[in-house]
Amino acid sequence: MLYIGVDLGTSAVKLLLMDGSGKIEKIVSREYPLDFPHPGWSEQQPQDWWSAVVDGIKELTDACDKTQVAGISFGGQMHGLVILDKEDQVIRPAILWNDGRTTEEVEYLNNVIGKDKLSQYTANIAFAGFTAPKLLWVEKNEPENFARIEKIMLPKDYIAYKLTGVHCTDVSDASGMLLLDVKNRKWSREMMEICHIREEQLANIFESYEVVGTLKPEVAKELGLSEQCRVAAGAGDNAAAAVGTGTVGDGMCNISLGTSGTIFISSRNFGVDDNNALHAFGHADGYYHLMGCMLSAASCNKWWMDDIIGTKDYAAEQQAIGQLGENHVFFLPYLMGERSPHNDPNARGTFIGLTMDNSRADMTQAVLEGVAFAIRDSFEVAKSLGIHIERTKICGGGARSPLWCKIMANVLGIKVDLLASEEGPAMGGAMLAAVACGEYGNVEAAARAIVKVVDTIEPEPELVEKYEKKYRQFAQIYPAVKNVFKVIAE
Ligand code: XUL
Repeated sequence: MLYIGVDLGTSAVKLLLMDGSGKIEKIVSREYPLDFPHPGWSEQQPQDWWSAVVDGIKELTDACDKTQVAGISFGGQMHGLVILDKEDQVIRPAILWNDGRTTEEVEYLNNVIGKDKLSQYTANIAFAGFTAPKLLWVEKNEPENFARIEKIMLPKDYIAYKLTGVHCTDVSDASGMLLLDVKNRKWSREMMEICHIREEQLANIFESYEVVGTLKPEVAKELGLSEQCRVAAGAGDNAAAAVGTGTVGDGMCNISLGTSGTIFISSRNFGVDDNNALHAFGHADGYYHLMGCMLSAASCNKWWMDDIIGTKDYAAEQQAIGQLGENHVFFLPYLMGERSPHNDPNARGTFIGLTMDNSRADMTQAVLEGVAFAIRDSFEVAKSLGIHIERTKICGGGARSPLWCKIMANVLGIKVDLLASEEGPAMGGAMLAAVACGEYGNVEAAARAIVKVVDTIEPEPELVEKYEKKYRQFAQIYPAVKNVFKVIAE
């Protein structure tokens, strides 16, 4: 049998066709526009996602026996607010995970409702990108839109709905809405009251590997697939990436270097970081995880390469980089503000420490290192909770750079396991579909059978020491300029 994994990302959708043994048959991708209607705002048209998914599935399956496609599932960009009216039409563009417009609503939730209560209801506090503050923003700024809301959805759930006609979500993605009682895996009554919404407006909650429905006949016809093809709930892209990299069960770690950058630690038990600096979410394997999320990771490098330097040859730019651990230029990678651990939508990208002798390669290096240092910020929070991490998997576009993986291993001082493919969320989506169709007994069994480490980058003690010093320097920059970011934002 064949399975389709859909990674509904921020810049593009990636679709992956996998056979029952986990072999990747084909990967295709389709880009769509990303709008920044104001500085710090970020929106997309759900209809663009749907057209891209339809075209993508057609291309993905054009050479295979379509009757063999048994299941489809997802990894999807998290937290985005998609609202539908009573005709199931999209009311306004989706407000994405990296949108920073909700400063006032976050302030209200964290300081008036209070972090303690939020943490008690949902295991998390409010961050600008989360869904609940966006609902409050729409209520206040677009009351006519708020009044029309019949259904509240997350991005990948909109695609599942278009495929099956079922309003569904999964625990891992719903965890990032600040509406879910994460520990008990059900909607929080208190949060619905705070956000002035009714349970009927929210989707039915499934585990990621559960079947939500089969393809609608007209969709099956359009795609050329069987009406029996099953759609499984899927997961938020980080939980899906964790499945795709075998980061399931207890105490495993994955780093994703995509548009966002995340560090993801799987756990069999529910646990909350007392300061809520890390998110405490449900995992796609039926258990839990902790996660730190930076808003701009590989996107910093893409911005630096494409928009500033003006090149597509990332490898050539990285080849010009000299010694590691000795760069005196630093880069704060906060091009869209920052989530973990600073929770500061006003934070901005910053080069600091430049001198006349610096080259563009030093600045490229600073960008790669700045992202690694910012991941280390969340890694430090995990360590302070007594979590011991010895090794990590890595995925996302950034994982294609051997240099960046080496920097990561040495900045964190841990082993980095490389996999045959860096397609975490799409692979995870296909694996969830395979579990939903009974090809594997559960998610852990699928991961054990499918995910193979092909190489490991060992940290080098001398370089780890150099980077330790550099990280200590980096860690002083944000607190020193934090107030300046606030002034600039005024
Ligand atoms: C996670 C997060 C991002 C998006 C990116 O909390 O906001 O990783 O899921 O797609």
